[in-house]
This record gives sequence, structure tokens and C-alpha cells, in this order.
Amino acid sequence: MVESQFSNQRKPSIVIIDFGSQYSELIARRIRETEVYSIVVGYTITPQQLMELSPKGIILSGGPSSVYEDRAPMCDPGIWDLKIPVLGVCYGMQVMVQQLGGLVGAATGKAEYGKAPLEVDDPTALLTNVESGSTMWMSHGDSVQQLPDGFVRLAHTLNTQDAAIASHSRHLYGVQFHPEVVHSQYGMVMIRNFVYNICCCQPNWTTSTFIDEAINNVKEQVGNKRVLLALSGGVDSSTLAFLLKKAIGSQLTCMFIDQGFMRKGEPEFLMEFFDQKFNINVEYINARERFLSKLKGVVDPERKRKIIGEEFIRVFEEESLRLGPFDYLAQGTLYPDVIESSGTNIDPKTGERIAVKIKSHHNVGGLPKDLQFKLVEPLRTLFKDEVRKVGQALGLPDEIVKRHPFPGPGLAIRILGEVSSEKLNCLRDADFIVREEVAKAGLYHEIWQAFAVLLPVRSVGVMGDQRTYAWPIVIRCVSSEDGMTADWSRLPEGLLEKMSNRIVNEVQGVNRVVLDITSKPPGTIEWE
Ligand code: XMP
Repeated sequence: MVESQFSNQRKPSIVIIDFGSQYSELIARRIRETEVYSIVVGYTITPQQLMELSPKGIILSGGPSSVYEDRAPMCDPGIWDLKIPVLGVCYGMQVMVQQLGGLVGAATGKAEYGKAPLEVDDPTALLTNVESGSTMWMSHGDSVQQLPDGFVRLAHTLNTQDAAIASHSRHLYGVQFHPEVVHSQYGMVMIRNFVYNICCCQPNWTTSTFIDEAINNVKEQVGNKRVLLALSGGVDSSTLAFLLKKAIGSQLTCMFIDQGFMRKGEPEFLMEFFDQKFNINVEYINARERFLSKLKGVVDPERKRKIIGEEFIRVFEEESLRLGPFDYLAQGTLYPDVIESSGTNIDPKTGERIAVKIKSHHNVGGLPKDLQFKLVEPLRTLFKDEVRKVGQALGLPDEIVKRHPFPGPGLAIRILGEVSSEKLNCLRDADFIVREEVAKAGLYHEIWQAFAVLLPVRSVGVMGDQRTYAWPIVIRCVSSEDGMTADWSRLPEGLLEKMSNRIVNEVQGVNRVVLDITSKPPGTIEWE
């Protein structure tokens, strides 16, 4: 794992040592918001490996374990002799305290979860400009019971004596709360204090420096060879196409496989935008009939995903042979995939590192590992929000950069049961109306996803003098931060009315519109 991250051209200014916290990635993102490059590594990293990275600061993340449990994850104690400033967060602070000779124990009856006012005792260094009494986000059962020699208290809360601590002379700091979460009022002030005042980092992680470096790296890697990119129209592959076009121009060939499951107008937009407007060579592969015939009679959602995924690979292989030879395949791998596949996650029970369960159903359209290509992955150091910024800076329009998430198998999984071209046409039109009306109401960017689902049941209705027997459409609109949890959007009645009227009047084969008012959990965002 460390291997692949070490091969990054740019060295990180801050290294986050991960003890399995759900917030480790968030810490990295927060640091990067201060224009300082940071990466997440597993806790087994050695002092030698750290020295090779030569960071200006180290952050020890939180984690689900207790330091006094058997097999609790610990960092190599050699880290304390590196003379690099360290900030321990929650469990990370407890590791620091224990390894340096202090004492950590269960805070009987005093576990602290949620918001707590922080009383500042020492407003210097880490807590410079952090207002006493401000809210910090706590989430811990254990706490420090005795500080190691040379440490002082910087702040306390009602239930936690040592909420922030320091050994000023050694530049070691610890906080029992989570400065990285939005509920911590002065969290970013504290992060900036650490990054700039304590570690003396320079603000050099910006979109434009990233683009310049990435272009140079790609040029160097690829030379005069040909690169193939599977373009989907999503923000990752689109940003990649723009970046590669800048780096290697006509050595890039994009392949757009039209499975027939995209939303209304999308294939046309894609070809017009990339191929014609921006002169990026895109090979349009019309595979609609092929995919549809493979799905004939298939109703099980997992089977549908599998068939679509396999067919995608088959088409890709055939077409890359036809258009090739290519030396390189460009992939829009992002940093969360790199962290996850590097296995820094930890089993809270055993303290062992565990491989993260691959979200297989989200990987449709992914390519097999044994293809005979070398990989170009210039986005592999970026988080999604950073990709959006890069895309925007490279000139991608909002339609792509800010578009709602869309599953790889597309409308095929938003038609429950068997997929047919009649149902696809019907759903495409209904989905268009939902999104158009949401946009007209100025709500598109406030909503995480707005779409339609087609249910394969018919019910009786009446239109004019005619009795109808047709499908219902479900309107699904949700708000969410990351797709992991979601709430249904409370849309204005007038907007719902307009959608409903338009759908039954304009879409053939639909006589009823219903609204999904389920949150996630217990529901999911998609229906499938
Ligand atoms: P669920 O339905 O599990 O979806 O609540 C969570 C988020 O993931 C999106 N999703 C996908 N994204 N490929 C993707 O890139 C997929 O196959 C896929 N399936 C679901 C879904 O739209 C929602 O935002």
C-alpha cells in the first residue's frame, strides 16, 4: 500500500496515520482545504517510510479501538523521535499519551458524545484564536487520566479534563475532540494553526498547481504512445478527458459505449460537447441493441447489473482491438479508491487491517484487471470535490461538473423488472420532466438526486373518455451529503403538481404518478 502512495510525484506536507476512524479521509480533505497536500497511510507505516515522505507534520487519526485493549492498533514508537510535529486526534491522542508514558482509561460515566463547549486554558500554539466556550464535537468513551511527562493541558470540557494537550517543546499536540467535523466551531482555525504555525507548511496545493503537475507527469509517463479512455459523461472521466487532451492531444482516443440506458439527450450532448466542440476524439459505439437483447427476460437486479457489466467489458475489448493498438488505458481512479484498496481499514474487534468490501454493485463499467494495458491515473490523488474543481478549471460545464450522481447501469436499474425499449422510452421522458421541473424551480443544486423510477405494474386510470391500463412513475428526490444516508426532499406542492400533470399528459404508457417519501436508511436512493 505504502508503495503505491510513495510513487506519487508530489510529497505530502501532512501525513495522516489512520487508526480506522470514519473521519480519516475527512481530516485529509480539511487539510487540503488549506491548500496543503495531505495523504492517509496505514498505522503500520515505519519511521523510515515516513522519513522518505519527509512530511512537515503528522496527524494520528481517531479510531474505534481502546488503547488498553489487546491488539489495539499502535504506531511505531520510533515516530516520537523523528522531531516532526504530531497532532493526535481522539484515539490518536490516546495513543500518543500511552506511548509516551501517560495513562488512558475508560471514562466511567463520563463518556462524551456530541457537542461540548471547550474551555481554553492555554490560548497559544494550537489554540491560538480559538474562542473559549466555543463548541467542539466529542465522540469518546476513553479519556486521558494522566499526562506524560512534559505535557500540559491546553483546554478542558465539563466532562473531560484534558480535552487538548501539548508538549510545546517537542511540538506534540493532542485533542480529544474532532476539529475536522463541521460541528466543531473553531475546528478549521485549529487545523490552520497546526498546519501553518506549528508545521510551517506552504499553501501550494491548488487546482492550478495540480493541473500543471498532472499534465507534466502524464507527458512524462506516456511519451508519444497512444492512450484509450472509456468516457461515460460523468465528472471523473470527463475531467480526465480534458486533462489528457491538454497533456497529449491527439494521442488520446475516447470511447463512448452507448448501452442505451443513459438519460434523455445525454449521448447526443456528449458527442457534441467533446467531439465537436472541444475536438476530443470520441469514438461513439452504439451498443443499444446488444445490451437490450442480453437483458431480455431478466428481472433480478443483481443479474441485470452483472450482465451489463460483463457486456460492457466485452464491447470494450472488441472495440479497443478494432481501434487500437493502445499502450495505455486512462482510468478515473480517485483517492478514496486508493485508500480503500490499500487496506488501511481496521477491524474494530481485532485491530487487524481488513480489506474494505468492494462496493461491487457500484463498479459496473469497471474494467478487468488483466487487460493488457498500462494504466494512466492522474486523478488518483484527488477527492471528488477536488476533481470537480479541476474539471471546472479545465472548462467543463456545470451540466457535467454539477450533475446529479447517476449509476453506471443507468435507467436499466430504474426500471424494475424486465427492461424493454418501450419502458426505456417511457422512463426517459418521465425522468426528463422530473429533472427539468426541479431545475426550473431553481432546486437542482439543492437536491442530491432527482429522478424517476418505472414500476412494472399496471393500474386502471381514465383519460378523456378512455379507460387506461398503464404503468406508474415514482418521483424520487433526496437530499444527502455523500449518498450514504439520505432524506426525501420536501418539494413544493406546486412543483409536484406540475411534474405529475406533465408526466401523465406527455409520457406515453403512464397513467399515475407517486412520490417516494422514504429516507435512507431504511430505503436506498435507487429502487432497483
Ligand atoms: P443506493 O441506491 O445504494 O445508492 O442508496 C447510493 C448512491 O450510489 C449511486 N449508485 C451508483 N453509482 N455506479 C455509480 O457510480 C453504480 O452502479 C451505482 N449504483 C448506485 C446512487 O445513485 C446513489 O447516489
